[in-house]
Amino acid sequence: MNEASVLVAPDPTRVPGTLREELGCLPRHIAIVMDGNGRWASQRRRPRTFGHRAGQKAVRAAVEFCLREGIQALTLFAFSSENWQRPASEIKALMDLFLRALDREIKSLQENNVRLRFIGDLDSFDGPLRQRMARGQTVTQGNTALALNVAVSYGGRWDITQACQRLARQVQAGELAPEAIDEAAIDARLSLAELPPLDLLIRTGGERRISNFLLWQLAYAELYFTETLWPDIDPAAMRAACVDFAGRERRYGLTSEQVQS
Ligand code: FPP
Repeated sequence: MNEASVLVAPDPTRVPGTLREELGCLPRHIAIVMDGNGRWASQRRRPRTFGHRAGQKAVRAAVEFCLREGIQALTLFAFSSENWQRPASEIKALMDLFLRALDREIKSLQENNVRLRFIGDLDSFDGPLRQRMARGQTVTQGNTALALNVAVSYGGRWDITQACQRLARQVQAGELAPEAIDEAAIDARLSLAELPPLDLLIRTGGERRISNFLLWQLAYAELYFTETLWPDIDPAAMRAACVDFAGRERRYGLTSEQVQS
């Protein structure tokens, strides 16, 4: 069995029919703060990097789940702007892991029609990693089954700032009137422009905060927090998040009566 067939292998524990049929609705776009790798490793008296390696398997499980259930976009917080302050040894181990994961997974992503994109301040990475990321994006750019966005050196404030800079440059060049800057104009210059709106944010590892992730895009997303540490996330955990999402009433500022009429 090759890597590609493993990625979409049927899950024997799953009941027939899709989750969408069962629940009536599914998030179009899921974002995940993958927290808890370090604690998962220390519970096993292993170094933190052991937890990050185990976290890769959970990434695969989340991608498989989204492919299988027809979710359109998945955005993963892999490395924040603030993570550069971690010990140099941990940063190096994470960069090595990203490089190896890229080399190993691209073929499988391609065969499964997954479009890979990196969002964040990519200039802060060294040449080899930047080249690999660019190659991964180019190879998979025509794929349509799932948009997989990996946020690296990413911060929500950085994203809004870079959108403002792009707008300012266009105003300066006389291409845009200041009055033409509205929410849609900002939205179009953010990292996840053109993707379905973010419906569900999952944060693993028990903390209940946003940690400078997709600040703008989270405006009307549903938030789901679980104690489960990231390496322990499996299809059942992803499913539980979707079941919870399906039970929410999304009001967007309206009353419940308005939404139901
Ligand atoms: C947060 O857990 C996790 C990270 C900073 C790294 C996430 C990286 C992976 C899941 C590896 C694979 C990713 C890809 C895209 C190939 P933490 O270290 O803050 O855990 P803690 O809160 O228990 O200390």
